[in-house]
Amino acid sequence: MKGITVTINGSQVSGREGMSILELARENGIDIPTLCYHQKLAPIGACRICVVEVEGSKTLVASCHTPIDPGMVIHTHSPKVIETRKAIVELLLASHPDSCFVCDKANICDLRKIAADLEIGLPRFRMRKHYYPIEDISPYVVRDLSKCILCRRCIRGCSEIARQNVFAIANRGFNSKVVVDCDQPINKDVCRDCDVCISLCPTGALSKASRVREAKKGKPLIITG
Ligand code: SF4
Ligand code: SF4
Ligand code: FES
Repeated sequence: MKGITVTINGSQVSGREGMSILELARENGIDIPTLCYHQKLAPIGACRICVVEVEGSKTLVASCHTPIDPGMVIHTHSPKVIETRKAIVELLLASHPDSCFVCDKANICDLRKIAADLEIGLPRFRMRKHYYPIEDISPYVVRDLSKCILCRRCIRGCSEIARQNVFAIANRGFNSKVVVDCDQPINKDVCRDCDVCISLCPTGALSKASRVREAKKGKPLIITG
């Protein structure tokens, strides 16, 4: 396969044709945060948290779905990049419930980790929040869509990995929502022994029903995916 040489953060590195900037950066030990991207799923470039600066490009580019080109000069942590990532996370947090300290997934929540890494304090923005009722009818999956950041990892995982199509996106803008059927609470037999969407969700929006029910009985909750 053809080798491609690019410059990342001042160092020349070599990658392979078809590699994304994100893949090359990670291969070289450079940490770029991601939310909608997951290595098991096809990238869609939706959340923009992975943006980087490419010299000669008028706008920042999403590293997860931008392939490397010979001679590219890339900056993954320039002041402009960091400012943009912070603004994206602050906007997400501004419409997120203030429940991180009691969230079952707090110890593994990607959103919370990225916010801490970017040293984000109190949000600068005021935004409407969604308050959806918790869906806990299914014996397998509990959904709390108030915590959903619309990364679509559950939709893609269910379709690409589990080979089901339980989820879809409905509505636009602020009212966008991941729905099941005609916006019914999730309760599907195909979810038995699956957990694909739960393991892919980067926030506390999806949890294993059995673990949530154990926690309600007062048993310690240790969530790993
Ligand atoms: S548990 Fe599996 S089948 Fe059910 S919604 Fe999640 S990914 Fe789809
Ligand atoms: S439920 Fe989770 S995985 Fe699905 S879109 Fe929302 S945050 Fe992403
Ligand atoms: S991680 Fe690249 S756009 Fe979401």
